[in-house]
Amino acid sequence: MMNKLYFGDNLDWLAKFEPASVNMIYLDPPFNSQATYNILYRSPTGKNGGAQYQAFEDSWQWGPAADYAFALVRNSHSPAYGILTALNNFMQKSDLMAYLTMMTARLLEMKRVLKPTGSLFLHCDSSASHYLKIILDQIFHDGEFRNEIIWRRSTGKSLMTRRLPTNHDSILLYSGGSGEWNADEAFAPYDADKLPETIKTKYRYTDDEGRRYRLDNLINPNSNRPNLTYEFLGVTRVWRWTRERMHAAYDAGLIVQRAEGRVPSFKRYLDKQRGMPLDDVWTDIPPINSQAAERLGYPTQKPLPLLERIIRLSTKPGDIVLDPFCGCGTAIEAAQRLERKWIGIDVTVLAIDVVERRLRKMNLKNKLDYEVEGIPRDVDAAHRLFNEDPHDFQLWALTLVDGQPRDGGKKGADKGVDGLIYYQHDAKTIRPAIVSVKGGKNIHADHIRDLIGTVQSQEADIGVFVTLHEPTSAMVKAAREAGSVETFNRFRSRIQIRTIAELLNGQRPDLPPVHDIISAASAARRLSARRSQPTVTPEQIRAQPSFKYPISGGKIQNTQKDLELNDPLLVPQVEKPVRRNARRRA
Ligand SMILES: C[S@@+](CC[C@H](N)C(=O)[O-])C[C@H]1O[C@@H](n2cnc3c(N)ncnc32)[C@H](O)[C@@H]1O
Repeated sequence: MMNKLYFGDNLDWLAKFEPASVNMIYLDPPFNSQATYNILYRSPTGKNGGAQYQAFEDSWQWGPAADYAFALVRNSHSPAYGILTALNNFMQKSDLMAYLTMMTARLLEMKRVLKPTGSLFLHCDSSASHYLKIILDQIFHDGEFRNEIIWRRSTGKSLMTRRLPTNHDSILLYSGGSGEWNADEAFAPYDADKLPETIKTKYRYTDDEGRRYRLDNLINPNSNRPNLTYEFLGVTRVWRWTRERMHAAYDAGLIVQRAEGRVPSFKRYLDKQRGMPLDDVWTDIPPINSQAAERLGYPTQKPLPLLERIIRLSTKPGDIVLDPFCGCGTAIEAAQRLERKWIGIDVTVLAIDVVERRLRKMNLKNKLDYEVEGIPRDVDAAHRLFNEDPHDFQLWALTLVDGQPRDGGKKGADKGVDGLIYYQHDAKTIRPAIVSVKGGKNIHADHIRDLIGTVQSQEADIGVFVTLHEPTSAMVKAAREAGSVETFNRFRSRIQIRTIAELLNGQRPDLPPVHDIISAASAARRLSARRSQPTVTPEQIRAQPSFKYPISGGKIQNTQKDLELNDPLLVPQVEKPVRRNARRRA
């Protein structure tokens, strides 16, 4: 099977999959947090922070899509319909009910495509985990619920006034029949700083390199083994190992004799052991921090070690891993590294773009190592996308020029700047080129003149006009008359027109080296890490209007909802932990 990446709604794609065709499913759907997730990175130019893209929305409302999903569940004749109806009796087509209905329809499809012995890991949090569990209990058979894994995703960040901070996610694990399970992988590596006392006592010796070890008995418990009875380091006993193996271990420095004539022992190193048996509370995998190398800037990106652990536990090389809400493709990268086959689905153009860039970084090639479905690869498909969804068309067209959506990528935010391409102006400076995308037929020279005006008003050097239809000769003339600009040791046209057909043929805009969405995000992070953060006093924070009122919508509201309006600060200040010795000094 070829690895596959699908752009579009997973409900539509899953319906096309063969039954019992995948070994494992990991899904990390939106959690019903009522938040809008942005790609939040500052501009790598160090100036305005325009490039912030609405990756996906996690707020749900009852509407035709929920009605359709409800009907699908009813027609499935699954016991899940009974639960959904019961929930609806008291939730009454609420936003949460819309979320649960959409999830149930998809989970039923997932169960259909999962092999009878396969595993499903549903990553969620306390917003809806309790409801999702009773739904999954109906979709899977009795006894197929295996674990609720608690992943501690961060340390509690701030002091809450009415409750404790929420800092874990739940991963619900179901597997069918006897289930495919690799018990040998159910170990977490020892953390040298947090060793249990029992281990410390057992492994009480350390060698010159600081490696912990214990001394193990080399004497065979069976005294009647003539072929293993011989003299070693002046001591004759019945040994566990053959003479050859004993000498090899000695040469490797793994055998110690404390004094002449004493029975030698084997040095068993702690770091060679399997580790601590895993339980269902995982505290050893940190979240991706703001400067982490693996961070791509995609919101809700999960850490690779988490996915590697899940995949190792439940699959073997060659098995098929499906992530129907793949985001920036963490499960895909983990599956690829572990030599599993993979299928990813996401409804956001940007997610597919980031996954493809991630795959290219791993030296994987489209059509050779994987296939992408749903993303236009020719002009006809581009027309279809434009007719179906002009906004998605615009976002996709931007990916062809390594552009990043402007103004949050919001629908209707177009003020002549649809996106920015960040390029290296000289060794030290990154500059943005302004991109304007047009999918409609009705294009003319005024659009080029508008772009020239925008380039000037934004103090940029270069504008790129991307069009689905051929430009008129007046447009080409207007672009030519805009002249050229010197950047990265060469003169280049100030206004450049590229058709979608040209871009699909690899005729890219004439720009110096360009930063794609991943490298622009990391350049911006480096820049912000270099800049010293100004110290803000509590008085300044209190003076900011946004801190005086609860912010409506979005996750921030969730963190603030328990705070009284007359609290001096609605966003609680993070208190520096009081270090013990500091307190003593005080
Ligand atoms: C929480 S993120 C997944 C993050 C991912 N685990 C990672 O590490 O990058 C959820 C993803 O689900 C996608 N999504 C939401 N609804 C979808 C649907 N109906 N079909 C496919 N993908 C969907 C969103 O675009 C978003 O990228």
